[in-house]
Amino acid sequence: MNAWKVFLFNLLRRLIGTETVEVRLKPREKFQGPIKILGISGSPRGAKSSSHKMLETLLAHARSFGAETKVIMLCEKKMKPCEGCVSDSDRECEFPCIHCDDDTNEILQAMIDADAFVFATPVHWSSPSAAIKILIDKMTAIEENRYEITFKNGKEPLFGNPCVLLASQEGDGANMALGWMAGQLRAMGVWALPWGQVFKPNLLNRKLVRIGLRVINQRKFEWVDNTMRADGRNLVLISRMLKESGYQWDDFKYLEPNC
Ligand SMILES: Cc1cc2nc3c(=O)[nH]c(=O)nc-3n(C[C@H](O)[C@H](O)[C@H](O)COP(=O)(O)O)c2cc1C
Repeated sequence: MNAWKVFLFNLLRRLIGTETVEVRLKPREKFQGPIKILGISGSPRGAKSSSHKMLETLLAHARSFGAETKVIMLCEKKMKPCEGCVSDSDRECEFPCIHCDDDTNEILQAMIDADAFVFATPVHWSSPSAAIKILIDKMTAIEENRYEITFKNGKEPLFGNPCVLLASQEGDGANMALGWMAGQLRAMGVWALPWGQVFKPNLLNRKLVRIGLRVINQRKFEWVDNTMRADGRNLVLISRMLKESGYQWDDFKYLEPNC
């Protein structure tokens, strides 16, 4: 919204003495299209990375349930770190983000258009990769401008979108990395599904190890593949249920003063 509209809007609100404004989104036709799942691949090692392979496996399961999938490999994109405009004032954090000369806005727009997400990351010192951290920081531009984006698109960005989080690790730290991601994403309205945090020890990518585990009938590590199969299915079916119900997470009755 431009400054004049905001000024008039707030003036009107003061004159009629109300802080509560009900805004109804345009009624939508019953959802019919495919569920759009955006996969974010966060390893600096690109297509050969273990976390990227996990992502491709999960998306293949999702496609078998009718999803349309798209992958963004962050190591192929340029994204400057967040400059923290929101810390000056809520209104300083804009969408599109002020970084117009890198790929930030292309990635954020793909997130706005998606119905569900899969994030894949290596564990780097018990954290997600630096690229994933930068992306989560920059998602603030969507979160801070979600009313404007909603009114423009007729669809809430991020809010209520289910996600699955995948990590590849050598030994330890995935729970911290994925737990942190789940917490921050939830604060922006994106929720990790039940069973939606999957980590794979790198050792399991070795063929000999996998054969060895089968020979000694040690099957407990098969939970990784089984869970990813379930996640691909759940991500599509839960997203479809939500879209078909037309459920809105916010009733948009309470607009923030400067929206
Ligand atoms: C900078 C750096 C830090 C790492 N920190 C951890 C760690 O804290 N815990 C762990 O289990 N593995 C750690 N690793 C190993 C990677 O998580 C592991 O090799 C992973 O399988 C790589 O995934 P990718 O192929 O998707 O990049 C680290 C690797 C790098 C490069």
